[in-house]
Amino acid sequence: MGSHAYKICEYDCWFQAWGTPDISPSLAGMLSNLRIEEKGEIIERAAAELRRGLARGFGISAGSKARDQETLVGTIEHLNTALGLSLPSQKPEGFVLQVTDTRIIVAGQDPRGALYGVYRLLFLLRLGKITAGTHIAEAPATSYRIINHWDNLDGTVERGYAGKSLFYQDNRIKYDPRRIEDYARLLASIGINRISINNANVRGAAKGLITEAYLPEVAKLASIFRPFGIRLILSINFASPCVLGDLAAADPLDPAVASWWKEQTDLIYRAIPDLAGFMVKADSEFEPGPFQYGRTHAEGANMLAAALRPHNGEVFWRCFVYNCAQDWRDHSVDRAKAAYDHFMPLDGGFDENVILQIKFGPYDFQVREPVSPLFGALLKTRHIMELQITQEYTGHQIDLCYLPWLWEDIMSFDTARGPASRVRELMGRSIEGLAGVGNVGLDQNWTGHPLAQANLYGYGRLAWDPGLSSEVIAHEWSVLTFGDTEVAETIKKILLASYPIYEKYNAPFGICFMVNPGIHYGPSPEGYEFSKWGTYHRADRRSIGIDRTPAGTGYTEQYAPQKAAVFRDPACCPENLILFFHRLPYDYRMKNGETLLQNIYNTHFEGYDEVKAMIDTWMGLKGNLDEGIYASVLSRMERQLENAGEWRDVINTYFRRKTGIPDAKGRVISG
Ligand code: GCU
Repeated sequence: MGSHAYKICEYDCWFQAWGTPDISPSLAGMLSNLRIEEKGEIIERAAAELRRGLARGFGISAGSKARDQETLVGTIEHLNTALGLSLPSQKPEGFVLQVTDTRIIVAGQDPRGALYGVYRLLFLLRLGKITAGTHIAEAPATSYRIINHWDNLDGTVERGYAGKSLFYQDNRIKYDPRRIEDYARLLASIGINRISINNANVRGAAKGLITEAYLPEVAKLASIFRPFGIRLILSINFASPCVLGDLAAADPLDPAVASWWKEQTDLIYRAIPDLAGFMVKADSEFEPGPFQYGRTHAEGANMLAAALRPHNGEVFWRCFVYNCAQDWRDHSVDRAKAAYDHFMPLDGGFDENVILQIKFGPYDFQVREPVSPLFGALLKTRHIMELQITQEYTGHQIDLCYLPWLWEDIMSFDTARGPASRVRELMGRSIEGLAGVGNVGLDQNWTGHPLAQANLYGYGRLAWDPGLSSEVIAHEWSVLTFGDTEVAETIKKILLASYPIYEKYNAPFGICFMVNPGIHYGPSPEGYEFSKWGTYHRADRRSIGIDRTPAGTGYTEQYAPQKAAVFRDPACCPENLILFFHRLPYDYRMKNGETLLQNIYNTHFEGYDEVKAMIDTWMGLKGNLDEGIYASVLSRMERQLENAGEWRDVINTYFRRKTGIPDAKGRVISG
């Protein structure tokens, strides 16, 4: 490891001007002679990306004079036919990367594969992993690698913590095309192939996005993403036939409604022929949907699917459906059960081009919740998993929270339904991909917190290869961003420690929802306790938690029998989820021999102390790191410490007052 020889530019993310780290003269020779003979938007983009990446990243200018050393980029079919090679065919979007003594070959199964191969070549060069003899054949595990933007047309971003929307301003589509191209590059380089550009809550002007008033502009946006292999998705409002058309109702079984959608969809595809489809949030949090007409979600989704089918479009139908007008006194309803209850009975009832989009957990992107029981259970319905890259419940990109840590845990979850039933093993089989709510905005560094770039990077890498560990991802990202330096190594360690730290000072042991209502930053133990949203922990002076075993709501029984048995028994249930599944007295003994309450106190003291220690580690980097990044991270960490202190005090005080039981270690609990 040496010190980095370049000035880090936050805007460039994982494409820094790296200099020429350990690139041998022979590799440099091959790289400076680029041969690309194929035509086409994406393949030509692949060539341009390689030239650009080599020039900006390594200072290698790639000419095209034939010499005895060269780099070839193309599709496998073309290279085999034109040059008599015998490259083996790959899965769609896959590539082969071969290095001999005289030649580097980047061969895609299709143009997108070649583009992905080019990016991989650039990154592996930086990571020092390309040598004569390198032979890599890779393809993404999943076909759907989606970013969802929750951007509103007025320029705000729902749950956005990195500035205003990249796409909209004052109810108009307004963007800097260069910036969009740079964004497309970032996304393509981590394998993203679809992007929804407007909030799932389709309100106000956004309802008109699918009309002629906006479509020409949407089409221009699509044309910036297209060469990067990224297709657009539009979120639609289920009531559009009434809002935009003159129909009195949007009943999916009404032929007039179906034909309105067909015509509108034809119109949309005339503007954007390769639109990936529609995303729909229906009957959820006040959005309209088929329930209003006594229809099922399969009937609603299939009606849209029929309109999209002639265009090879698909419906991304969200499963975030629950009663959001609940009476907190009513113990018979359990929000955690809702998605399974609504969608499991419909398994097999959805058309081929409907893809259910299921949040990873049964609640709502909480810091710790179990994996949704729909995964592994749905056998006859196409589906993908939804994650949140934006840090709604994980610190608003003020607090550092390296999300691949959580995602690795999700990938490791065993649904226990048949052989090879871990989520990561289902990825690319029953789970066809990921949709992640994006974390970027107009902030110059894209993500607000500079280190939150690692979450975007990690999301793409994991959608591509769900077997990657969070450590490998952190290593790659740190080195690509900060160089192969001690600094990168330290930052990697900081990232890897950050999720457990955040979890310690947050809602304890899977209890969920102790955040300030609405904003979802900072603690409020009873903020959601007596509200309509169905998110209760029911703490009293003796116990806390909802009994989700058969003696309680029975949520555990939505899992496979073997899994249900684990969750049903507090002695077997993972302790980080114990309060999700059980109602326990505060003196319940945890595995470390201390009571539940004492563990709550301890973790909250520790969480705060660990943030302090993290700041010390960060301060140790002063002088070795770009001053701007150093200062911007430090200022966020100071705010994080304040937040962690507030969580510690508010949570500990809450339980101290509720139970009357003091901290066994005699620490001061304020209040
Ligand atoms: C959460 C979030 C909302 C969002 C919703 C969704 O509830 O707070 O802002 O609209 O998820 O996923 O649709």
